[in-house]
Amino acid sequence: MHRHTAIRFETLFEEEVYKGLTDFPKHLSSKYFYDEKGDKLFQDIMAMPEYYLTDAEFSIFENHTEEITTLFRKQGGHFNLIELGAGDGKKTKILLNHLSQNGADFTYQPIDISQNVLNGLKASLAKELPDVPIQTKQGTYFEALNELNGSNTSRKVILFLGSNIGNLLHDQAIEFLKQVRALMQEEDLLFLGVDQKKNPQTILDAYNDKTGITAAFNKNILSRINAELGGDFDVDQFLHWEVYDPESGTAKSYLVSKKEQTVTIGKLDFQAEFGPWETIHTEISQKYDDRIIMWLAEKSGLQVETEFTDSKKLYKNYVLRKAY
Ligand SMILES: C[S@@+](CC[C@H](N)C(=O)[O-])C[C@H]1O[C@@H](n2cnc3c(N)ncnc32)[C@H](O)[C@@H]1O
Repeated sequence: MHRHTAIRFETLFEEEVYKGLTDFPKHLSSKYFYDEKGDKLFQDIMAMPEYYLTDAEFSIFENHTEEITTLFRKQGGHFNLIELGAGDGKKTKILLNHLSQNGADFTYQPIDISQNVLNGLKASLAKELPDVPIQTKQGTYFEALNELNGSNTSRKVILFLGSNIGNLLHDQAIEFLKQVRALMQEEDLLFLGVDQKKNPQTILDAYNDKTGITAAFNKNILSRINAELGGDFDVDQFLHWEVYDPESGTAKSYLVSKKEQTVTIGKLDFQAEFGPWETIHTEISQKYDDRIIMWLAEKSGLQVETEFTDSKKLYKNYVLRKAY
């Protein structure tokens, strides 16, 4: 019996950290990578030559701006352009710019767990694209989706870019897509960015750069526990480790304890014991092919209407609608 079974948590972060570090094997959710430091590290990752995902999706948007935005505007009238996990909006700005230049009647509604990244996005849009109406919403996908579900009447185009869906296991992705479907009307669209299966080495390199940016990003979750929950993790005593299974298409990130150690987390009144080389699983980055996407869509009551890809076919954007 654990002496903390009746512990009360003030935040989801506290609860998930406690549960993840008392579970076996240990795990922490990648959604906690993102604070001011994590947001900056993710921008550095996007700028790395190894992280092909951003360039690939950027080139799709640049080469197909007209076709993509025409799909978004198809029905005419006002629509909400809702973006789940928007980040800094670097790629989305290509579409926003084109829509704005062509007089589209829309409101951009970026959702993100990081208030810091939303503040930056709002400030940069005010400067670069002041005519784009923006309403930010801080929260997890599910919190934000549930709120939107109750309040929204305009036609919706829902963006889920950067292969964010790859952070979900297939079962979770189906659950997630079902929730998205539940708030879609017949004419609404889901515009999904999805990383494709490819040479396994290319994938490993994207999540294990030689300069150590990805390692610092992964370890930022420990720094956050130190800063926000009074933890005393020595981040140098953990190793960033990436594996990719080309059969399942699953890339996994771990933090591996280099030695036997005890970490105290003051705010949770709790000590986490680590054996030598014990792991904390922190992130999955699932890779897909058309068959997997068709299967996920079918399981969640959606259908693929069309798709776009880059010249090297590293990445795809799928346009989905509700299936009846
Ligand atoms: C990998 S980044 C991608 C950002 C952007 N979509 C892009 O393609 O550049 C993931 C973004 O989603 C946010 N995020 C991650 N998990 C989330 C969750 N469960 N709920 C809401 N936002 C989340 C992060 O804060 C981050 O800004």
